Amino acid sequence: MNEELIIEKTRDFVKANLDGEGSGHDWWHIHKVWKNACNIGSKENADMYVIQLAALLHDIADWKFHADTEGPRVAREHLEKLGVSEEIIEHVCKIINTLSFKGIGSEKIMKTKEGMVVRDADRLEALGAIGIARCFAYGGYKGNPIYVPSVKPRRDLIFEEYKRETSQINHFYEKLLLLKDLMLTDTGKKLALKRHKFMEDYLRQFFDEWEGNA
Ligand code: NI
Repeated sequence: MNEELIIEKTRDFVKANLDGEGSGHDWWHIHKVWKNACNIGSKENADMYVIQLAALLHDIADWKFHADTEGPRVAREHLEKLGVSEEIIEHVCKIINTLSFKGIGSEKIMKTKEGMVVRDADRLEALGAIGIARCFAYGGYKGNPIYVPSVKPRRDLIFEEYKRETSQINHFYEKLLLLKDLMLTDTGKKLALKRHKFMEDYLRQFFDEWEGNA
Protein backbone atom coordinates (compact mmCIF):
# COMPACT_ATOMS: atom_id res chain seq x y z
CA MET A 1 0.00 0.00 0.00
CA ASN A 2 1.45 3.40 -0.88
CA GLU A 3 1.87 6.22 1.64
CA GLU A 4 -0.95 8.31 0.26
CA LEU A 5 -3.44 5.46 0.59
CA ILE A 6 -2.25 4.67 4.12
CA ILE A 7 -2.83 8.29 5.14
CA GLU A 8 -6.28 8.20 3.56
CA LYS A 9 -7.18 4.97 5.37
CA THR A 10 -5.84 6.37 8.64
CA ARG A 11 -7.94 9.50 8.19
CA ASP A 12 -11.06 7.35 7.65
CA PHE A 13 -10.22 5.18 10.67
CA VAL A 14 -9.80 8.16 12.98
CA LYS A 15 -12.87 9.93 11.60
CA ALA A 16 -15.02 6.86 12.23
CA ASN A 17 -13.68 6.56 15.79
CA LEU A 18 -13.93 10.16 16.93
CA ASP A 19 -16.90 11.57 15.04
CA GLY A 20 -19.32 13.32 17.38
CA GLU A 21 -16.96 13.23 20.39
CA GLY A 22 -18.14 16.11 22.61
CA SER A 23 -15.19 17.44 24.62
CA GLY A 24 -13.21 19.20 21.90
CA HIS A 25 -11.23 16.14 20.82
CA ASP A 26 -13.56 15.25 17.98
CA TRP A 27 -12.69 14.61 14.35
CA TRP A 28 -12.48 18.32 13.54
CA HIS A 29 -9.82 18.80 16.21
CA ILE A 30 -7.79 16.08 14.51
CA HIS A 31 -8.48 17.61 11.12
CA LYS A 32 -7.13 21.01 12.27
CA VAL A 33 -4.04 19.49 13.93
CA TRP A 34 -3.38 17.55 10.74
CA LYS A 35 -3.65 20.74 8.65
CA ASN A 36 -1.53 22.75 11.12
CA ALA A 37 1.07 19.96 11.09
CA CYS A 38 1.21 19.92 7.28
CA ASN A 39 1.62 23.71 7.29
CA ILE A 40 4.38 23.74 9.91
CA GLY A 41 6.10 20.57 8.65
CA SER A 42 6.38 21.86 5.09
CA LYS A 43 8.39 24.84 6.38
CA GLU A 44 10.52 22.81 8.80
CA ASN A 45 11.95 20.27 6.39
CA ALA A 46 10.56 17.20 8.17
CA ASP A 47 9.18 13.77 7.19
CA MET A 48 5.61 14.53 6.16
CA TYR A 49 4.53 10.87 6.20
CA VAL A 50 5.39 10.38 9.89
CA ILE A 51 3.97 13.81 10.70
CA GLN A 52 0.65 13.08 9.07
CA LEU A 53 0.21 9.65 10.65
CA ALA A 54 1.11 10.95 14.11
CA ALA A 55 -1.12 14.01 13.76
CA LEU A 56 -4.08 11.88 12.67
CA LEU A 57 -3.62 9.30 15.43
CA HIS A 58 -2.46 11.57 18.26
CA ASP A 59 -5.76 11.65 20.21
CA ILE A 60 -7.10 8.23 19.27
CA ALA A 61 -7.37 7.43 22.98
CA ASP A 62 -6.85 10.65 24.93
CA TRP A 63 -5.44 10.34 28.48
CA LYS A 64 -8.31 12.37 29.94
CA PHE A 65 -10.60 9.51 29.03
CA HIS A 66 -8.42 6.43 28.78
CA ALA A 67 -5.26 4.95 30.24
CA ASP A 68 -1.90 6.36 29.13
CA THR A 69 -0.86 3.40 27.03
CA GLU A 70 -4.12 3.05 25.13
CA GLY A 71 -3.34 5.59 22.36
CA PRO A 72 -0.07 4.05 21.16
CA ARG A 73 -1.61 0.57 21.40
CA VAL A 74 -4.60 1.44 19.20
CA ALA A 75 -2.35 3.34 16.76
CA ARG A 76 0.09 0.43 16.49
CA GLU A 77 -2.68 -2.09 15.87
CA HIS A 78 -4.12 0.08 13.11
CA LEU A 79 -0.77 0.71 11.38
CA GLU A 80 0.29 -2.94 11.60
CA LYS A 81 -2.93 -3.94 9.83
CA LEU A 82 -1.98 -1.60 6.97
CA GLY A 83 1.52 -3.10 6.75
CA VAL A 84 3.38 0.06 7.80
CA SER A 85 7.07 -0.59 8.58
CA GLU A 86 8.13 -1.16 12.18
CA GLU A 87 10.46 1.84 12.05
CA ILE A 88 7.62 4.20 11.12
CA ILE A 89 5.21 2.63 13.65
CA GLU A 90 7.80 3.01 16.40
CA HIS A 91 8.34 6.68 15.56
CA VAL A 92 4.61 7.47 15.34
CA CYS A 93 3.83 5.71 18.64
CA LYS A 94 6.70 7.47 20.37
CA ILE A 95 5.30 10.83 19.28
CA ILE A 96 1.77 9.97 20.46
CA ASN A 97 3.10 8.77 23.79
CA THR A 98 5.16 11.89 24.37
CA LEU A 99 2.47 14.29 23.26
CA SER A 100 -0.15 14.79 25.93
CA PHE A 101 0.06 17.82 28.17
CA LYS A 102 -0.03 16.97 31.88
CA GLY A 103 0.72 20.28 33.55
CA ILE A 104 3.69 22.55 33.08
CA GLY A 105 5.82 20.60 35.60
CA SER A 106 5.23 17.26 33.87
CA GLU A 107 6.54 18.00 30.40
CA LYS A 108 8.00 15.09 28.42
CA ILE A 109 10.79 15.83 25.94
CA MET A 110 9.98 15.56 22.24
CA LYS A 111 13.11 14.33 20.53
CA THR A 112 12.54 14.33 16.77
CA LYS A 113 11.72 17.17 14.37
CA GLU A 114 8.54 15.33 13.34
CA GLY A 115 7.46 15.07 16.97
CA MET A 116 8.10 18.77 17.50
CA VAL A 117 5.96 19.65 14.49
CA VAL A 118 3.02 17.54 15.69
CA ARG A 119 3.33 18.87 19.23
CA ASP A 120 3.29 22.47 17.97
CA ALA A 121 0.35 21.73 15.70
CA ASP A 122 -1.63 20.26 18.61
CA ARG A 123 -0.75 23.17 20.87
CA LEU A 124 -1.97 25.71 18.33
CA GLU A 125 -5.40 24.21 18.85
CA ALA A 126 -5.39 25.54 22.41
CA LEU A 127 -4.59 29.06 21.20
CA GLY A 128 -6.41 31.84 19.39
CA ALA A 129 -10.09 31.91 18.42
CA ILE A 130 -10.21 28.12 18.21
CA GLY A 131 -8.45 27.75 21.55
CA ILE A 132 -11.02 29.97 23.26
CA ALA A 133 -13.89 28.02 21.72
CA ARG A 134 -12.36 24.70 22.76
CA CYS A 135 -11.63 25.92 26.29
CA PHE A 136 -15.28 26.72 26.96
CA ALA A 137 -16.59 23.68 25.10
CA TYR A 138 -14.43 21.49 27.36
CA GLY A 139 -15.60 23.43 30.44
CA GLY A 140 -19.21 22.85 29.49
CA TYR A 141 -18.55 19.17 28.98
CA LYS A 142 -16.97 18.92 32.45
CA GLY A 143 -19.48 21.21 34.14
CA ASN A 144 -16.77 23.73 35.13
CA PRO A 145 -17.71 27.37 35.81
CA ILE A 146 -16.66 30.04 33.30
CA TYR A 147 -15.06 32.24 35.96
CA VAL A 148 -14.96 32.40 39.78
CA PRO A 149 -13.27 35.69 40.84
CA SER A 150 -12.37 34.44 44.35
CA VAL A 151 -10.47 31.37 43.04
CA LYS A 152 -7.12 32.54 41.71
CA PRO A 153 -5.12 30.70 39.04
CA ARG A 154 -2.39 28.39 40.35
CA ARG A 155 1.26 28.34 39.25
CA ASP A 156 3.77 25.57 38.38
CA LEU A 157 1.30 22.76 38.68
CA ILE A 158 2.25 19.13 38.85
CA PHE A 159 -0.05 16.67 37.13
CA GLU A 160 -2.18 15.80 40.19
CA GLU A 161 -2.97 19.48 40.77
CA TYR A 162 -3.47 20.23 37.09
CA LYS A 163 -6.21 17.59 36.88
CA ARG A 164 -8.24 19.42 39.56
CA GLU A 165 -9.86 22.09 37.42
CA THR A 166 -11.20 25.35 38.88
CA SER A 167 -12.64 27.66 36.22
CA GLN A 168 -12.14 28.00 32.50
CA ILE A 169 -10.76 31.54 32.85
CA ASN A 170 -8.15 30.12 35.25
CA HIS A 171 -7.31 27.58 32.57
CA PHE A 172 -6.07 30.46 30.39
CA TYR A 173 -3.52 31.37 33.08
CA GLU A 174 -2.66 27.80 34.09
CA LYS A 175 -2.13 26.52 30.57
CA LEU A 176 -3.19 28.46 27.50
CA LEU A 177 -1.14 31.62 28.03
CA LEU A 178 1.96 29.55 28.83
CA LEU A 179 1.96 27.67 25.57
CA LYS A 180 3.60 30.26 23.32
CA ASP A 181 6.87 29.83 25.23
CA LEU A 182 6.73 26.07 24.83
CA MET A 183 6.56 26.03 21.06
CA LEU A 184 9.40 24.01 19.55
CA THR A 185 9.65 25.08 15.91
CA ASP A 186 10.20 28.55 14.45
CA THR A 187 7.03 28.34 12.38
CA GLY A 188 5.04 27.18 15.39
CA LYS A 189 6.36 30.06 17.48
CA LYS A 190 5.29 32.64 14.94
CA LEU A 191 1.78 31.21 14.66
CA ALA A 192 1.47 30.87 18.43
CA LEU A 193 2.44 34.47 19.08
CA LYS A 194 -0.31 35.74 16.80
CA ARG A 195 -2.91 33.56 18.52
CA HIS A 196 -1.58 34.49 21.96
CA LYS A 197 -2.12 38.20 21.29
CA PHE A 198 -5.67 37.49 20.20
CA MET A 199 -6.35 35.73 23.54
CA GLU A 200 -4.90 38.61 25.53
CA ASP A 201 -7.28 40.97 23.74
CA TYR A 202 -10.11 38.57 24.45
CA LEU A 203 -9.34 38.46 28.19
CA ARG A 204 -9.11 42.26 28.42
CA GLN A 205 -12.56 42.52 26.90
CA PHE A 206 -13.88 39.70 29.11
CA PHE A 207 -12.82 41.42 32.34
CA ASP A 208 -14.09 44.80 31.14
CA GLU A 209 -17.46 43.23 30.46
CA TRP A 210 -17.38 41.32 33.78
CA GLU A 211 -17.02 44.62 35.65
CA GLY A 212 -19.65 46.31 33.51
CA ASN A 213 -17.10 48.57 31.89
CA ALA A 214 -17.63 47.65 28.28
NI1 NI B 1 -4.99 16.95 20.38
